[in-house]
Amino acid sequence: MTQVQNPPVTTTTTTAAGKYVGQAVDRVDGAVKTTGEARFAAEVPYANVAHAALVHSTVSRGRITAVDTTAAAAVEGVISVITHENAVRMRPPSKVSPIDIDSMASGTTVNYLNTDQVSWNGQPIAVVVAETPHAAHEAAGLVRATYEVQPSTVDFKAEAPNAEPQPSSLILPSGGSKGDAEAALAAAPVSVDLRFTTPMHHHNAIEPHATTAVWDGDRLTVHEASQSVVWVRKHLAHKFSVPAEGIRVIAPFVGGGFGGKANVWAGTILTVLAARMTGRPVRMLLTREGVYRTVGGRTPTIQRVALGARSDGHLTSLIHTSVSQLGRVGGMAEPVTSQSSHLYAADNLLLKQEIVKLDQIANTSMRAPGEAIGTYAIEVAIDELAAELGMDPIELRMVNEPETDPLHGRKFSHRMLREAYARGAERFGWANRSPEPGVTRDGRWLVGMGVATAYHPSFQLRANVTVRVSVDGGVLVRCGFQEMGMGGATAQAQIAADALGVPFESVRVEYGDTALPLAPMAGGSAQTASVATSLLAACEKLKKSMLELAKKSSESPLRGARAADLSARDGGLFHGGRGETYASILARAGIPSVDAAIGSETRLGDLVGNMRFMSKFLMDRRRWVKAACGAQFCEVRVDADTGEVRVSRWLGVFDVGTVINAKTATSQLKGGIVMGIGAALSEESLVDPRHGRVMNPSLAEYHLPVHADVPRIDVEYLDVPDPTMPLGLLGIGEVGITGVAGAIANAVHNATGKRVRDLPITLDKLL
Ligand code: MOS
Repeated sequence: MTQVQNPPVTTTTTTAAGKYVGQAVDRVDGAVKTTGEARFAAEVPYANVAHAALVHSTVSRGRITAVDTTAAAAVEGVISVITHENAVRMRPPSKVSPIDIDSMASGTTVNYLNTDQVSWNGQPIAVVVAETPHAAHEAAGLVRATYEVQPSTVDFKAEAPNAEPQPSSLILPSGGSKGDAEAALAAAPVSVDLRFTTPMHHHNAIEPHATTAVWDGDRLTVHEASQSVVWVRKHLAHKFSVPAEGIRVIAPFVGGGFGGKANVWAGTILTVLAARMTGRPVRMLLTREGVYRTVGGRTPTIQRVALGARSDGHLTSLIHTSVSQLGRVGGMAEPVTSQSSHLYAADNLLLKQEIVKLDQIANTSMRAPGEAIGTYAIEVAIDELAAELGMDPIELRMVNEPETDPLHGRKFSHRMLREAYARGAERFGWANRSPEPGVTRDGRWLVGMGVATAYHPSFQLRANVTVRVSVDGGVLVRCGFQEMGMGGATAQAQIAADALGVPFESVRVEYGDTALPLAPMAGGSAQTASVATSLLAACEKLKKSMLELAKKSSESPLRGARAADLSARDGGLFHGGRGETYASILARAGIPSVDAAIGSETRLGDLVGNMRFMSKFLMDRRRWVKAACGAQFCEVRVDADTGEVRVSRWLGVFDVGTVINAKTATSQLKGGIVMGIGAALSEESLVDPRHGRVMNPSLAEYHLPVHADVPRIDVEYLDVPDPTMPLGLLGIGEVGITGVAGAIANAVHNATGKRVRDLPITLDKLL
């Protein structure tokens, strides 16, 4: 269980919506993480722990005809080599249901080591268990498999012409249209019709995926680097046919996830299998290459954006289509065009998404799946249209700023893009930008500015929460949500402190453990809002219980008070000038603590809760379009001789509703922008078109932005609460990356006069 002491509040901001909500509070887990005290999944000590390493297939499709494990088994310290020939039976992953979020837990449909079928180049075909990690890896390198190779299709660009329509689900709708966008495009006096490509990306969280698994009979403890302890537990219970109640998954500290740790991948399952079969606690820390081979990444895309406009800039036609990739063994169909149905008031719209299925690993979500790359294409196209029109690109956006959602006419719950652009333009000095490209120089550097819109939808999932107040005045919030470095636990402590009127220091939050009330995955930028909804309800319930308890005594100053008239402050409940602390109420009653719980853990409660959630989600979506958005401003410098691109200044002005913690929110948004700089300039997974093998599975060859690539980043918020979301917050995890690649491409054009429509913008494309 997490045991972290809250640090005192050290800094403040001007935006406090409550005593603590809005403040730039230090992370409650910051000190233990930075001092090395925090134990991550691969660090939890167990006596007698054995170490596991994966063997990966070397063909993209085929049957394993033989596996020679002799040399591997002979390595000193090797305990067991597990292949499809000796692995115990597990259940295959359950079918994905479009209305049941939990059915999406498995990363792929493969029943690892219970099949001789290989479905991608890199699929695990064996796991070696040894006394040391070195022995396990050495032995893994000695396992020799022979294959009956089957024909495979692995080349995305070659297969793209055979794309099929992307199915729509309740959760991820695909496409839509209004009017006749193609006819309007043909008739438009000014138009652009452009093709963009974006490459595959891979996950590179600072902590690679890791699992430590310990069986005790049919009971299982798993320490896991996960974005969803609940999904891990459900999926393992299914795979190993044991009751979920007997499985405990613990993940108090996670070194980044970004979507890569949302699903359950092979490493987790095969570590649990290895522990089952050897009777030892087993640990597996994936190598960086192991993450590339066994965890999905971001789909590559081919996108078309066509825009038609009147000469005053008013859009008559907006077309955005995408082709993206799934594995034949699963994946997540990315909503690449979804933002384009909400951004511009075009008279006619056409959005279409298609997919190709390849013999590659299933893709998965990666920070703003869909929007991160979809905003690149649409926002560059808007910039290109502005150039055609001879209009300022911000002006063109403002001319087309919609009053209601362009596709369905739904209301925006909140939309302050005009304000974001106005504030950003002023602060960034947009007026100094030369509208003519390629003319601003600073010595050998060509200098340019660009903007793009950031956009990510907002929603909430269902969370169970309990809150306890104790006779010592301490408050304990318990909820099995995930903290992977975003500051989620700190935010919930701030929310609880304000709701109960207690000092921040007295609130402790327990999270990242299936022994706690069930909570949703950390994903979709939805966690803080999801947990806050139930936390606020639990705090209300707790205050009512405390009032009832106080009123049982004739000595209580709260006698005769009504719940509606109370204010929570100074560690208790007050009615006018009279009141008492929770500690005093409990002490007088002789009770050590009182709990309030929201949500039910029974099977029926779970079912009813899910149905309620789904109907609210769908009704809400029929009524409102909810999203975080923002205006990204950047300046780039391009070396006139070498084409080297440096990002030199950045300002993001975001409309994310209420900011709960100005410090962690700023970090989240900056992190998103840094990841966007990577997507714009350097990140690209290279797939061998003959063999389907990812060729650059390492930090040396897959280029992430480093400190020297990242300028000072300024982040501002409008900080106006959304009327429909809990505490008015719209979510911040993903919106930061959206629009970034578009803003950079637009700035590169402004600097050089060159349009790059194929990410990443490497120097060869500028010469
Ligand atoms: Mo996210 S890409 O929903 O972790």
